[in-house]
Amino acid sequence: AGPCDIYASGNTPCIAAHSTTRALYSAYTGALYQVKRGSDDTTTDISPLSAGGVANAAAQDKFCSSTTCLITIIYDQSGRGNHLKQAPPGGFRGPEANGYDNLASAIGAPVTLNGQKAYGVFMSPGTGYSNNAASGTATGDAAEGMYAVLDGTHYNGACCFDYGNAEVSSTDTGNGHMEAIYYGDNTGWGSGAGSGPWIMADLENGLFSGSSSSNNAGDPSLSYRFVNAVLKGGSNVWAIRGGNAASGSLSTYYSGARPSASGYNPMSKEGAIILGIGGDNSNGAQGTFYEGVMTSGYPTDATENSVQANIVAAKYATTSLTTGAALTVGSSISLRATTSGYTTRYITHTGTTINTQVVSSSSTTALKQQASWKVRAGLANTACFSFESVDTPGSFIRHSDFALVLAANDGTKLLYEDATFCPQTGINGQGSSIRSWSYPTRYFRHYENLLYIGSNGGVNTFDSATSFNDDVSWVISTGFA
Ligand code: AHR
Ligand code: AHR
Repeated sequence: AGPCDIYASGNTPCIAAHSTTRALYSAYTGALYQVKRGSDDTTTDISPLSAGGVANAAAQDKFCSSTTCLITIIYDQSGRGNHLKQAPPGGFRGPEANGYDNLASAIGAPVTLNGQKAYGVFMSPGTGYSNNAASGTATGDAAEGMYAVLDGTHYNGACCFDYGNAEVSSTDTGNGHMEAIYYGDNTGWGSGAGSGPWIMADLENGLFSGSSSSNNAGDPSLSYRFVNAVLKGGSNVWAIRGGNAASGSLSTYYSGARPSASGYNPMSKEGAIILGIGGDNSNGAQGTFYEGVMTSGYPTDATENSVQANIVAAKYATTSLTTGAALTVGSSISLRATTSGYTTRYITHTGTTINTQVVSSSSTTALKQQASWKVRAGLANTACFSFESVDTPGSFIRHSDFALVLAANDGTKLLYEDATFCPQTGINGQGSSIRSWSYPTRYFRHYENLLYIGSNGGVNTFDSATSFNDDVSWVISTGFA
C-alpha cells in the first residue's frame, strides 16, 4: 500500500498527493511531475518505474542531458487535478517575469529510495509552487490532515517554507485563513525548544509551535536529514507531529485546542495549496520537499503512524551531488573558460571581485596565485566543495546578490551555503559546470568577464540563455600556484 491507500482505509482520503520521488498509491502509474529543459523549452512527464513505484529518474537524466531542467508541474496523484505550478505574485512578488516565483532545478535534491535514484524539489529563496483553484481541500473550519517529507538540514529563518492550505488570492486575508506545515528556524512568531529548525503550523499571521503564539518548549529542534512533518486541524483541535522519515516512529509535539489568539477558532481556511512560500507569497524561505499529501478529515494518530512506517520502508537515503571529473580536497586548481574567444581566460580575483583574466605559464606569480584555488570540503555540505583563495587564505568564493565575490569566512550559515558548489559534467561537454548548492538552477558563469551564478534564462543580464552552456563549462586543471 502507499500512503494514500493507508489514509483511505482510515476514512481520511488524500485530496492531494504530491511527490517527485514515488507514487503515493500502490496502483498509481500516472505522471509524477513535469520537467522543462533549457535547450528547446520542451517538457516531458516523469512517471514511476512501475505501479506504486519510484520515479524514473533515468528518463529525466536522458531528457535533460547536456542542458538544464526545471520542475514545472508537480502532479496531484489523487485524481482531483490539484497540481502544483509556478506560484503567481500575491502580497509579495516573486523574482521571475511578471512577479512569478522561480521554478526549482530538477537536479538539486538527488536521493535514493530503496537504492533507486529519484529527485526531490530543492527550493531556493524565491522559489514557489501553488494551486489557487484546488478542489476537495478543507475550507472554513473543516478538518484536514497533511504530511510532508523534507530535508531537515535545508532551511532558513525567512518566511515561509510551507506545504498545505492557504489563501486562494495569494494575499494575507487574515488570521486563520491558512493551515500549512512550516519548517525552518523563523522566530518572528512562534518557536520551540533550542534554536530550531522546528515543525510549526502556519495559520496566517503566525507560525504556531503549540497553544501559545510565541514559544512552546514541547516542539523540539530537529536534526534529521529526512523529516516527516505532520499537521492536522479540525474544530477546536489540531496537532503537530514529526519524526525521522528514515527510521522509527512519530512523536506528538502538540495536540490540543486551537490558539486563543483571535481569529484561529473557528478557522477560515480557503483551500488553496502552497509549497515553499507563505500564504501571501512571501518567498524568502528555502527547503526541500520530497513527498506530501493533504487529506479530507482528521486522520487518527494510528493512520499517521502507519503512513510513517510506509515512508520509512521507502528507505530514503542520500546520494552523490556531483558528477564528472573528481576534485581532491586540499589540491590547488585553476578553471579555464571554454567559450570560443575566451579560452585563454581563467577564473581569478581582483580584490573581492571574481572575474576572468588571461593567464599563462609566463604570467606573474601574483596573477598565477589570483587564478589558483584550494579545493575544500563544502562548507555547507561536504558532498560538495568550497574554493579558498591561494593568495588570501581564509577567503572563499561565494555568491552575493548572484555575483561571485571573494569573502572572508565569517562562520555564518549563509556564508557556508553561499560558498558551497557542486561540480557536474560540463554542460557543453567540456570540463565541469560548477552548480551552486543553495541555488541549483545557477552555475559559475562568466558574463562580460565577471563571474556570477547564472541561470539558463532569467531576469538578470547574466542569466542570458545565449552562450549559457559554454559560459558555465570550465576545464579544471592543476592550479597555476
Ligand atoms: O503566518 C506567517 C505568514 O504571515 C504567512 O505565511 C504570510 O501570509 C504572512 O506574511
Ligand atoms: O547570491 C544570492 C543571495 O544574495 C545570497 O544567498 C545572499 O548572501 C545574498 O543576499
